[in-house]
Amino acid sequence: MQNIVEMMEYLKEVLSEKRYKHSVGVMKKAGELAKIYNVDIEKAKIVGLLHDMAKEMSFDEYKEYASNNHIELEEDDIKVIAVLHAKIGAHMCKEKFNFTEDMQNAVHYHTTGRAGMSMLEKIIYVADKIEDGRTYKGVEKLRELASEDLDKAIIQIVNFNIIKSIKQGKAIHPLSIDMRNEIIYKKVNI
Ligand SMILES: [Fe+2]
Ligand SMILES: [Fe+2]
Repeated sequence: MQNIVEMMEYLKEVLSEKRYKHSVGVMKKAGELAKIYNVDIEKAKIVGLLHDMAKEMSFDEYKEYASNNHIELEEDDIKVIAVLHAKIGAHMCKEKFNFTEDMQNAVHYHTTGRAGMSMLEKIIYVADKIEDGRTYKGVEKLRELASEDLDKAIIQIVNFNIIKSIKQGKAIHPLSIDMRNEIIYKKVNI
């Protein structure tokens, strides 16, 4: 695996300045959460940095990459289009930066979540939504919650996203529902 500086140089070439800054923000936040939850800090930082590496590809580029690399795109992946960059990005991270399976999964599921997430997956899912560049109402409380109880932070994030999708008449990815149900079943006081 290359070092972080080389990865940052690569990202600067494939992402806009705004998204590059977001990526560095997620790297930093993922490192902080990894420290709190006893996860490999270096790994979390690398995944945080690269989680959106495929975000600025076009739909045709996704389709081409998927067919060249035998990646099957399911209907939910195409209809809930924001998911494609995560699925394709996970594959690219493996090819280009030799990601382990857990690191690939953390990229793959950073948008939807899924049931049975590892700690690294949860950290990236949350860090993406609360990095320092995010300014939406309630983000500071969410940052505090994330450092106390990652599952509770995930529930707040997924609730917010589901409500937003309903208001906008958008589809909800079934993996997000699976993730939410699993945490709700496990916990009583959310
Ligand atoms: Fe993303
Ligand atoms: Fe992101």
